[in-house]
Amino acid sequence: MLLTGAPAQEIQRRRTFAIISHPDAGKTTLTEKLLYHGGVIHETGEVKGKSGTKAVTSDWMELERQKGISITSSVMTFDYQKLRVNLLDTPGHKDFSEDPYRVLMAVESACMLIDVAKGVEERTKKLYDVCRYRSIPIFTFINKLDREGKAPLDLIDEVETTLKMSCYPVTWPIGIGQRFRGIYNRMSKEIILYDQRRDGDEVTVIPVNGYRDEKWKSLVSEEIYEQTCEELDLIEGVLPPFDPEKFLKGEISPVTFGSAKQNFGVDIFLRFFCQFAPGPQPRNTQSQVPVDPLDSNFTGFVFKIQANMDRRHRDRIAFIRICSGRFERGMKVKHSRHNKEIRLSYSNQFIANEKATVDEAYAGDIVGVADTGNFAIGDSVASDKLVRFEDIPKFAPELFSRMSVTDAMKRRKMQEALVHLSEEGAIQLFIDPLVGMQDPIIGVVGELQFEVLVHRMQDEYNLDVKLNRLPFSVARWPRSQEGKAVSELKGSFQVYRDLIDQPVILLNQEWDLNWAKKENPEVEFATSISRAR
Ligand code: G4P
Repeated sequence: MLLTGAPAQEIQRRRTFAIISHPDAGKTTLTEKLLYHGGVIHETGEVKGKSGTKAVTSDWMELERQKGISITSSVMTFDYQKLRVNLLDTPGHKDFSEDPYRVLMAVESACMLIDVAKGVEERTKKLYDVCRYRSIPIFTFINKLDREGKAPLDLIDEVETTLKMSCYPVTWPIGIGQRFRGIYNRMSKEIILYDQRRDGDEVTVIPVNGYRDEKWKSLVSEEIYEQTCEELDLIEGVLPPFDPEKFLKGEISPVTFGSAKQNFGVDIFLRFFCQFAPGPQPRNTQSQVPVDPLDSNFTGFVFKIQANMDRRHRDRIAFIRICSGRFERGMKVKHSRHNKEIRLSYSNQFIANEKATVDEAYAGDIVGVADTGNFAIGDSVASDKLVRFEDIPKFAPELFSRMSVTDAMKRRKMQEALVHLSEEGAIQLFIDPLVGMQDPIIGVVGELQFEVLVHRMQDEYNLDVKLNRLPFSVARWPRSQEGKAVSELKGSFQVYRDLIDQPVILLNQEWDLNWAKKENPEVEFATSISRAR
């Protein structure tokens, strides 16, 4: 049955997105300004924490605070115009981790943030690939226009050639760096002039009859006027009008320019976002029958688990993306993997620095529910008819270690902690079937994950541990052509098991992988594996 009336309207006004960027492009700053425009924070600087201002909203963990980096992801919610916007934060450290990839499984669109001086950077590209894989629409915000950078036409060309994505400039900068004077909004036909000495909110808006309208000519230098007009001549001459259909299919990215730090252009991006960002979409299931967000059956999946967000309560929170229906605090749901009923209690939403209890939430929202160990990444829940959503892919780790604990009496506790943390998705565990959990191998995709692991073992489990690095750098899951797990391989390859009992091989280098392929031509060696839920 489909919901109608007020609950249906609630679902239709949800917009859930994430910002993808390379570290230092200005994600924290842009997030802060978005929350400011959403009325959640009243002074800028409330979210930013790097340079001694107030703590970053997503800085839950001590290590993050020490390092001044954002390791974990969080969810921020605000209302803008008539919409309820959920902004999912993605970790910002240069180190590679799986967390942002999972976040992108829970959103309907993304904003690609690009530093005007640096262009498309490595991390942005990786995250962008995940968005492309899901075909989600991508907005582009080119940031730091108040600093010297690449010429806007070159940047557009860079995005188009590097990412193979067509761009549609919604706004166009008037000058750049020292000479940055504002933007031309091609959609609304407005010149928006900005004064570096004032807050970005205090702008002069001049409605024009096209950019060659001389109304604004005397307000900037002749050189800037001419250059802007010449650039716009080139764009207007070749670009077809904005095609929302192509955008929704992920084929074209609308581009806005601005300066997050100066709070300039952020409101224009936000308004454009609200006009075109898609609301909750039908989500595919393993049985290939998509679930309509308006379906009255409450459904959702766990895309993130985080322990000890609140140090006073030593809690563990499972973040559920609601895919359909309405959530009520304390409701009973069916759990896909355990095939049992559980109660979703202590639900939270995260609004700026505050964690607020939610009594109800709708498709498109994220709720954090208290978890006593029931959940693992990728689990589905439903109030009525059980569904299993498409899996969240797991990525092949590239760094491997074994762990030892100083106090040998605490070995068992260490093993339990490792299982917890791997269920949470913080690490991956590989087990030799002969010795089981006695001596598991830990795999991660980035160095920082090891640092966080050691820190958390100490901090959360009171275990003093050491990591002994192993020479492996490649993990592959052997599969038959039909996609079935293969446990026996020709050649002398030790086959380990992962936490969901799938066979996996760990190799020192690509050369070994080529050897394995040569010896076993009928086997495919998968780099990622879906979690069977
Ligand atoms: P991140 O989360 O993507 O890693 O980036 P973050 O917002 O922390 O910004 C990285 C640096 O870039 C910060 O400088 C920030 O102030 C600066 N920045 C962000 N947006 C703009 C912009 O539009 N213009 C200019 N000029 N700078 C911008 P910082 O020196 O690390 O910190 P702070 O001392 O400025 O706070």
